[in-house]
Amino acid sequence: MRIVLVGPPGAGKGTQAAFLAKNLKIPHISTGDLFRANISQGTELGKQAKAFMDAGNLVPDEVTIGMAHDRMTQPDAENGFLLDGFPRNVSQAEALDESLKTDGQKLDAVLDLEVPEDEVVKRIAGRRICRNDSSHVFHVTYSKPKTDGVCDVCGGELYQRGDDQEETVRKRLDVYHRETEPIIDHYKAQGLVVTISALGKVDEVTKRAMDALKGDK
Ligand code: AP5
Ligand code: ZN
Repeated sequence: MRIVLVGPPGAGKGTQAAFLAKNLKIPHISTGDLFRANISQGTELGKQAKAFMDAGNLVPDEVTIGMAHDRMTQPDAENGFLLDGFPRNVSQAEALDESLKTDGQKLDAVLDLEVPEDEVVKRIAGRRICRNDSSHVFHVTYSKPKTDGVCDVCGGELYQRGDDQEETVRKRLDVYHRETEPIIDHYKAQGLVVTISALGKVDEVTKRAMDALKGDK
């Protein structure tokens, strides 16, 4: 299956993607995680992305589309993938449509996670992620690690993302409404959008998502 996950910052895309990718046996491809890995490795791409991310803006398409395409054409993504955080504006969605068409492929579904803004703010304020792997995600109240400040998965140190400060979060929400929400209409026109509520416990949301994806197919 080829799935795009869409939803505001803090909706739980990364959290759900980890479970969905495992259930569906497809790789979880997060452009945010790819950028953060490049930043921590000090690559040229990481240097280009950092200032945009710190300010809560989108990284320019010239950088993002090529990086996402490289990842999607790796051997493990041959039979499907779960995209998290890409596409993030209409021109990225059009670039994805084009490259899938060229390869004779198509998307199966666009899963839209709906969460009220006050909940998103609470989720982001308490989020802690692992220094070793930013896909290891915790929350100080909702998803507490067994030991404070230590990753349950790998023992790495947990920290708060630089772009999770309140002012930057407001900026990211703004950018989401202005630039990312329009892709929902883009994909509605293709009959691909499945919307679910992302409120409730993590496993309840995963079940809702799996049911919606099955129901759709
Ligand atoms: P990115 O990393 O994609 O961030 P985001 O979209 O803002 O999403 P988040 O990672 O903040 O949230 P999430 O929905 O994954 O929530 P999570 O599962 O962590 O992008 C960061 C930046 O990179 C962008 O601002 C941009 O600069 C750049 N970028 C990335 N992709 C780009 C692109 N395509 N083009 C241009 N620029 C790009 O959950 C949040 C918290 O809530 C966690 O603590 C979690 O434990 C908790 N939680 C999750 N589910 C639940 C639940 N059901 N109940 C209670 N708590 C929950
Ligand atoms: Zn870890």
